[in-house]
Amino acid sequence: MVAKEMKFLTGNIRQLLGSGHPSLDTVAKYYTQGEGKHVRPLIVLLIDILPSQRRLAEITELIHTASLLHDDVIDHSVSRRGNPSANLEFGNKMAVLAGDFLLGRASVALARLRDPEVTELLATVIANLVEGEFMQLKNTARDEKNPVWTKETITYYLQKTYLKSASLISKSARAAALLGGSDTATVDAAYLYGKNLGLAFQLVDDMLDYTVTAEELGKPAGADLELGLATAPLLFAWENNKELGALVGRKFEKEGDVARARELVLQSNGLEQTRALAEEYVNQAIASIEMFPESEAKAGLIEMAHKTLKRRN
Ligand code: FPP
Ligand code: MG
Ligand code: MG
Repeated sequence: MVAKEMKFLTGNIRQLLGSGHPSLDTVAKYYTQGEGKHVRPLIVLLIDILPSQRRLAEITELIHTASLLHDDVIDHSVSRRGNPSANLEFGNKMAVLAGDFLLGRASVALARLRDPEVTELLATVIANLVEGEFMQLKNTARDEKNPVWTKETITYYLQKTYLKSASLISKSARAAALLGGSDTATVDAAYLYGKNLGLAFQLVDDMLDYTVTAEELGKPAGADLELGLATAPLLFAWENNKELGALVGRKFEKEGDVARARELVLQSNGLEQTRALAEEYVNQAIASIEMFPESEAKAGLIEMAHKTLKRRN
């Protein structure tokens, strides 16, 4: 349905990233060559049923790609979308600068939309991405040596997940509806669709980190524990196995911690609980847009929600 628009997406993004400096040009465009899923632009184009603002779709992908360039530096990641990561290929300095450059060009494109509310939404997203990444540096709200599991453990994780993943999807869906001149109820529905889908998307991502090989993922597998991160599957496992508290507290740094934590997660129902929670969010995403008129675009949004659960990369 939006194939025509999507066909031009990468070309237009590459045009937005043109720079007179050849090596900056190469690094900045590096992640636009591979097989990205283009989830955010797809949602924007499907929400903005009158396709008045393709530029917003490009801006969302630029911000997302900038965050990946920085993320792969922070995570010391060696691969992305089946290719060597930009930091591995060009070094950390170039990867960070390329990410900054993408944010700069995204900001220019955003300013050119001449819509203060949309500008505020997308600028907030950039701040939210950093806040989410900061929250992730600690596994729990209090960051203690021997933390105990409480309901707050999950709340903290979900808040972090909103900031690092769902904020971009939800606020760009809201921006698309605003640019399309929709009424308040439609704008709110678009936001809720994006928020629920974004939460589901990251829950599935955190599950796949345990269940799928690096080859299928196109990026390192089992990376979260190695990075000291306790994501949903482990947090659910921890609820029923207090042994995990000490490991979470020392960020799985002691020899054997990563393997032990992985074993305990796989023995628990943490992965099933993660999948079940993702499914709840998918259903909520679909329910959010119930009031949208029946159309091909609405069917596309529902299909994307279902696909979020089935994806393997
Ligand atoms: C991927 O998560 C990363 C994010 C969703 C956001 C990262 C945000 C920053 C690095 C803050 C800086 C932001 C900007 C806009 C420059 P992941 O590491 O869990 O997933 P992965 O397995 O795909 O690497
Ligand atoms: Mg990463
Ligand atoms: Mg990361």
